[in-house]
Amino acid sequence: MKKGLKIFLIILLIILILSIIVITTLKIFNNDDLEDSSNYSKTATSVMKEMNLYDEINSKEYSKTIEVLLENNKLKEKYLDEYYQINYSNIDDFSNTINNLLNKNYNSDEINYITENMSEDINILLNMEHIDILAFKNISNFDINNIERYLNYQEENDDYDLATIVTYVNIGLDREGYSEYTEYTEEEAQNDLTILVNKYHKLPDDYEPDDLVALSYNSNYYLRSEAAEAFESLTNAGILDGVIFYPFSPYRSYETQEVLYNRYVARDGVKAADTYSARPGFSEHQLGLAVDVRSNTLNDNLTPEHYEWMLDNSYKYGFIVRYPKGKQHITQFMEEPWHLRYLGVELATKVHDSGLTYDEYYDLYMK
Ligand code: DAL
Ligand code: ZN
Repeated sequence: MKKGLKIFLIILLIILILSIIVITTLKIFNNDDLEDSSNYSKTATSVMKEMNLYDEINSKEYSKTIEVLLENNKLKEKYLDEYYQINYSNIDDFSNTINNLLNKNYNSDEINYITENMSEDINILLNMEHIDILAFKNISNFDINNIERYLNYQEENDDYDLATIVTYVNIGLDREGYSEYTEYTEEEAQNDLTILVNKYHKLPDDYEPDDLVALSYNSNYYLRSEAAEAFESLTNAGILDGVIFYPFSPYRSYETQEVLYNRYVARDGVKAADTYSARPGFSEHQLGLAVDVRSNTLNDNLTPEHYEWMLDNSYKYGFIVRYPKGKQHITQFMEEPWHLRYLGVELATKVHDSGLTYDEYYDLYMK
């Protein structure tokens, strides 16, 4: 019995020792092969181990963002929770960019929006204070290059909504009139019946349309051929409705515009002249696509009834009233019921239906 007990105890001891050996071996084995139980690359895993984040990271779902940050040694523990909400994106220098945006207080929603939609322009954001970038999300004509101008203009015009701020700045309304502009090429002006001419978009001095034709009303009055034909149709439609009007100033060359503008400046001064006359090179009349009309041959105006008819009907023949009432702050010209601009029926209809000035319409839909 005594011997039997001894043997039993020895066997028990051996089993105990063996168990300890097996358990220890298994533990060592597990530790050596931690990568197998981690979804992350070896490099990422070893960095997370160094940072004592192995358990925390592996208790959560795999994140490519976390992996890339670890691999580049750029993971900052304080941003760990935020990183999980950030989608990995194949942009240049992903890790530093994410960290820089986080440093600027951009949150994960903003960062996802930025990397998905503005990857080329992130530097602009990194060079300025945090902005509410998601507020611009649904503004189709938002241009990040104008961001400082939007913010400045918004400060001065806090009664405008953000979409209006964007459009007005894109048009150039935050600038002093004529201070900066785009000059079209001869070719652009010649080939595009829809180009925008305003205080910021100039025609070449020597631009002259190559298809001017005389109007039947007066052989010294010219418009580009398509506009001339449409103008005859508009005139005839008016006659059928009992609305009789006459053209009095159609195509004007750069030189003619110069003479007119200088005359107005001599009479009223630059500031006043700029409210009703375009400077040479900035007039739609030089395009051969604008015509002023009047209700009789004695004065320069349209009667209010004629003006209403024009607003309701001219687009059907391809013309818009270019400087309507109440839009002076956008067109930068006083109301000119008589000034029609030819755009072609399709575009004129769209502009008419939008209720926008051509400056706004162009910025929103033509660029
Ligand atoms: N009166 C218009 C603005 C022009 O001079 O073209
Ligand atoms: Zn005019």
